[in-house]
Amino acid sequence: RMPEFVQIKEVGPRDGLQNEQQRISTADKVHWINTLSESGVKEVEYSSFVHPKWVPALSDAHEVGKRIMRIPGVRYSALVPNMKGLELALEAGIDGASVFMSASETHNRKNINKSIEETYPVLQPVVTEAKQAGKHVTGYVSTVFDCPYEGKISPDQVLRVCEQLLEFGVDDISLGDTIGTAVPSQVDQLLVKVLDRFPSDKMIMHFHDTRGMAIANIMRSMEHGITRFDSAVGGLGGCPYASGAAGNVATNDVLYLLNGLGIKTGMNEQKLQEAALYIQNKLGKTLPSKSLAYVASQ
Ligand code: HMG
Ligand code: MG
Repeated sequence: RMPEFVQIKEVGPRDGLQNEQQRISTADKVHWINTLSESGVKEVEYSSFVHPKWVPALSDAHEVGKRIMRIPGVRYSALVPNMKGLELALEAGIDGASVFMSASETHNRKNINKSIEETYPVLQPVVTEAKQAGKHVTGYVSTVFDCPYEGKISPDQVLRVCEQLLEFGVDDISLGDTIGTAVPSQVDQLLVKVLDRFPSDKMIMHFHDTRGMAIANIMRSMEHGITRFDSAVGGLGGCPYASGAAGNVATNDVLYLLNGLGIKTGMNEQKLQEAALYIQNKLGKTLPSKSLAYVASQ
């Protein structure tokens, strides 16, 4: 029982670039995001309005937001950690705001400098204000399977965080395998519980591909009825506050899988390829996507 249509959110400009040492100029980011926009993807997470000291690679979020073209039908979203980030994001222009926290107490503290309990009162007004401004709001929950500091995270802990964010009014939740360690049996354990509580169209899966398990995990997630995934072109990225974590699953690899399975995405493989080769060239290194490497070698 595979889905007919899958919705992909391109997170390369945010999750991808936030962990790259090589700086990309604002003009190059704008050109690249515009190319990604033309690929038929439904949502592009274009940057992050976090503290520039914490994520220097995205310190030009405001300018990027002002300069990218906006294609009707594409949602342009950004990561926002607090009210200050939301104000800046609204000024720069967003259709969607993504708040974020972790299911793991220690990762939450390392990533956003607060305990889980201290994070809720920071995020609640962000969700409320963003909804009042007419924006789509996604809640990211990180380390839903394994935490680099605490090890296994229980599905019940993940459920508690999801419940709270949904109560605040987020439209949907993206469940993050932040360090890319999960295998399909862990996907089963979590999704059985999650989908018992929440509708599948509210849940997005966000896999990093550290151990090469992301495609298997996506396949398993679709078997549970999940139809929305986050991915980064070429497979770039990682989390700066989860050491050793590799990039997101490559949009190119996901698209190859979905096309092969006959699942519609509305995406154009060639445009995506163009965007992948562009950023690969700017970064001056080969990106991990195997589909990209294969097509580039032809
Ligand atoms: P803090 O230092 O605790 O913040 O950082 P604060 O509220 O105490 O403020 C300290 C100073 O920062 C103040 O300035 C604020 O104005 C300023 P001062 O008065 O000292 O001059 N400030 C800001 N400046 C610009 N933009 C802002 C902002 N907020 C405060 N938004 C904070 C708390 C959350 C801001 C910080 O910890 C932070 O920026 N963390 C971001 C970490 C991050 O970006 N991690 C990566 C993204 S998450 C991820 O990758 C996982 C995901 O992909 C899913 C998955 O894979 O699992 C989403
Ligand atoms: Mg991530």
